[in-house]
Amino acid sequence: MGFEAVAPAPVLLAVTGGIAAYRAAELVRLFVRDGTAVQVAMTPSAQRFVGPTTFAGLSRRAVLTDAGDGGGPIYPHLDAARAARVLMIAPCSANTLAKLAHGIADNVVCESALATNAVLVLAPAMNVRMWEHPATRSAVATLRARGAIIVGPDTGELAEGETGVGRMAQPAEIHAAVMSVLSPAGPLAGRRLLVTAGGTREPLDPVRFLGNRSSGRMGVALADEALRRGADVTTLLCNAAVAPGRGTIVQTPTAADLERETLVRAADADVVLMAAAVADYRPVVAAGSKRSRDGAWTLELVPTADILAAVAAARRPGQVLVGFAAETDDGLERARAKRERKGVDLIVLNDVSRPDIGFEVDDNEVVLVSATGAEPVAKASKREIAVAILDRVERLLR
Ligand code: CTP
Repeated sequence: MGFEAVAPAPVLLAVTGGIAAYRAAELVRLFVRDGTAVQVAMTPSAQRFVGPTTFAGLSRRAVLTDAGDGGGPIYPHLDAARAARVLMIAPCSANTLAKLAHGIADNVVCESALATNAVLVLAPAMNVRMWEHPATRSAVATLRARGAIIVGPDTGELAEGETGVGRMAQPAEIHAAVMSVLSPAGPLAGRRLLVTAGGTREPLDPVRFLGNRSSGRMGVALADEALRRGADVTTLLCNAAVAPGRGTIVQTPTAADLERETLVRAADADVVLMAAAVADYRPVVAAGSKRSRDGAWTLELVPTADILAAVAAARRPGQVLVGFAAETDDGLERARAKRERKGVDLIVLNDVSRPDIGFEVDDNEVVLVSATGAEPVAKASKREIAVAILDRVERLLR
């Protein structure tokens, strides 16, 4: 099949080996139907399931394979990888997930993944036991942390007759995930948000730490709600029990890790939501080996840097900064003073002396303290509290 030179495609669809490869044809049709050009690439193993001719016909472009097309540019996959805004891999096999996590480049699809700055949208499809294997879990976690969007897999009957998680997500769902990257919709589209969540741990020795009870649920609810509103979200997680569904995720277990990552990343954020419970003190020394029981142990602690105050000192015009205050008494007065002292737009105050809200539970009840007053938000799920906070942030951004 001959093809004329074509304009670069914003979507590079890579097909890897698996029964679901035939469903990628439907995916190409969805993009073609709404006028979005798609360049298809196939691994050798995908070609055992569907031939390149099918995809070439549907996409009206020569398919990239390891064999090449015998003419045209010398590095067609590098050109396609450079042009793409989204690299969608559907179906994405366990083998390809593992290779992507480790940067292995032994076929045209993995080479393209290494050579691109495009957002990765992965639609895994495999046997349920392969999906649940620790190796696959860890590859998925690594790729998510780099900002990959994972769509599915769905639960249902698998090709080999077993039932479980492993079916490739519906083509319409994968198409929607890609379109939301190409043209994000929502009130926070085009805005960059930095969210910190969880509680830092300051090591005393290799097994012990000084920590706090924050689970990260409030911060993660904020990250998820911001993603729903179309924002580009980076979440710094401090030992959190939960994680946002998408976006860039960086693990920052100690106050020093959080300080380093926050200061670098806050510079180009439009909004910084500092929901993490940061240790105010850390041990002067963290022993290199485990301390044995040996009489009394007196700890010497030094204050950590106030990260939020440092972000506020370097803030850009128009940047919105939100701090959190976990208080037990005189909350409102202390939150007002904290807002002024730290130089932030909004302090989200919650009363951590109540067992039914705040730490480790799903509900919260807060007061939004700004320059113009204090607005109480009634007890609700952390997700609904996140909605109220981001509604307020949107007003501050205008
Ligand atoms: N925070 C921070 N860096 C720290 C400590 C806290 O950025 N080293 C942030 C938290 O993430 C939170 C806000 O500051 O958004 C309030 O935390 P809190 O510990 O209550 O602030 P402090 O100023 O330390 O208040 P207090 O004097 O009540 O301890």
